[in-house]
Amino acid sequence: MNMWWFITTLAITAFICNSPAYAYDNNPLQDICVAVNDSQAAVFVNGKICKDPKFATANDFFASGLNVSGTAVPGSGAAAKFLTVDNIPGLNTLGISIGRIDLEPQGLAPLHTHPRATELITVLEGTLYVGFLVPDRANFFKSRLFSKILYPGDVFVFPIGLIHFQFNVGNKKATYLTAFNSQNPGFIFIPNSIFGSNPPIPDDVLTQGFQLSKTQITELRRKFS
Ligand SMILES: *[C@@H]1O[C@H](CO)[C@@H](O)[C@H](O)[C@H]1NC(C)=O
Ligand SMILES: *[C@@H]1O[C@H](CO)[C@@H](O)[C@H](O)[C@H]1NC(C)=O
Repeated sequence: MNMWWFITTLAITAFICNSPAYAYDNNPLQDICVAVNDSQAAVFVNGKICKDPKFATANDFFASGLNVSGTAVPGSGAAAKFLTVDNIPGLNTLGISIGRIDLEPQGLAPLHTHPRATELITVLEGTLYVGFLVPDRANFFKSRLFSKILYPGDVFVFPIGLIHFQFNVGNKKATYLTAFNSQNPGFIFIPNSIFGSNPPIPDDVLTQGFQLSKTQITELRRKFS
């Protein structure tokens, strides 16, 4: 094996091993990068600029309040409280965040996805029916539902980007903690995104896309806008 071939192979191997294909949130280039909440700032590091480390304090890495439920979303029976980089500035660039969800009996965290994070939930109390949809590799017009009934102490994972839901099927309140491998996981609620967009998606796209009449589409827009 000549030297040139050896060096080329080494370079290709190094390139593949260093490929950023497996990175989600940026890897921090420093020990800490406490977010400065300045929406006017022109320079962003993974969404937020960093505070000078010598001015960082323990409180930049602290939040309280998950001992109580968040604000209820009217009509959904669901209350959510998320602690992301907006609440814990020390999370900046670290690729993790947490939240608490409370569901009344029959309360639903409706079909949604997190474009930047896998979600891992831990049930503290109550009984949940949860699930996510995996596109069918053989036919991408179909999907497989992975679902499960969960009880206190149970943990369930919703893979990054996949559509999922959580539903309280018990007869008392359900509470669970939810962790994300992103400081800013993103939330896309499927019905609201589609039927509540501004400006609205044209009627023809929705009537054909959902095989429904204009009246039915108008009704869905009214419910989800
Ligand atoms: C929740 O925790 C906060 C901060 O520690 C505290 O001030 C508050 O009293 C607690 N609330 C309840 C209902 O335990
Ligand atoms: C940072 O900005 C966000 C969005 O404007 C706001 O919701 C949040 O309360 C702010 N956080 C702090 C610590 O000031």
